[in-house]
Amino acid sequence: MADEPRSATARAHSNIAFVKYWGNRDHHLRLPANSSISMNLADLHTTTTVAWDSDLQQDTLTINGAIAADSAVERVRNHLDVLRARCKTGHFARVCSSNNFPMGTGIASSASAFAALTVAACAALGLRLSERELSVLARRGSGSAARSIPPGYVEWHAGDSHNASFAETFAPPNHWRLIDVIAIVSRAHKRTGSSAGHETAGASVLQPARISSAAERLRAVKSAIKHRDFGRFADLVEEDSNLMHAVMMTSKPPLLYWEPLSFAIMKAVRYWRTVEKLQVCYTLDAGPNVHCICVASDADRVIARLRSLSSELDILRSAVGCGAYVLAPES
Ligand code: DP6
Repeated sequence: MADEPRSATARAHSNIAFVKYWGNRDHHLRLPANSSISMNLADLHTTTTVAWDSDLQQDTLTINGAIAADSAVERVRNHLDVLRARCKTGHFARVCSSNNFPMGTGIASSASAFAALTVAACAALGLRLSERELSVLARRGSGSAARSIPPGYVEWHAGDSHNASFAETFAPPNHWRLIDVIAIVSRAHKRTGSSAGHETAGASVLQPARISSAAERLRAVKSAIKHRDFGRFADLVEEDSNLMHAVMMTSKPPLLYWEPLSFAIMKAVRYWRTVEKLQVCYTLDAGPNVHCICVASDADRVIARLRSLSSELDILRSAVGCGAYVLAPES
């Protein structure tokens, strides 16, 4: 007789990097070229239920109630293979995932998705893994997912082996009430996603310069966060984002993620900070949307200014978030 399915539900938050991960030393293991820093986003999360079921003939995946595209199923299946090996099960899994942020807004969900999947899959089998081991495992699904496991302000140590590459908290969520105000410049699906982008990073002559200066930038960003020094933080975060995009633009083929409106917002943010004295800076991931990082007391003013730049702009807002966790079963 088949065993009862064993299931658990977990939630993980998305994160925004201040020192970026771009390029891998080992693509298969997702060992990054440099260590990175991020904050979790309290208001953007993925909730995932995993049911290991001996009756299933293959893994299944729904996202927001709809059967997922083949490419997503394949990526989840590959990650479930990693988890099956670690959890010593040969069963297939039914995976139901939902995001609380609107799909198709160009906000990457792989970090929260693979963190939630990892935590739910292990919990369903009753495995009590440490935060570090969950981060190591989540990294195999998506590099930035390693950073969505621990709470608050997080550093992902690049490491030189599978078990040495993990993320940990260096300041709790309530340490500094920063807000991420995200200007949705385009909802279009990226033509080149992060995974393909990491593979082209090494083709840029600028990547070695970005990598060799990353450790010092990371030390300085961490220190600025610890001392809540917004001026220093802002200059470093913008520099790091510009450096990553300079690498992207000079890869072969070049990756040009900025839209004219992205650039207009970046310039406006610098004006608001340097002339109007708002505590805000920008950072962009592998897409045109602009993350405006600001102190909580300036968030409403930043949103009003963004609206005056373009009334069409969709805007999301998030405070600093906690780590990934298992949800209590519904009774
Ligand atoms: C630009 O973690 O999405 O957002 O490991 O291939 O899933 P994969 O890549 P991913 O890369 C994130 C890249 C980034 C910068 C960052 O978050 O550090």
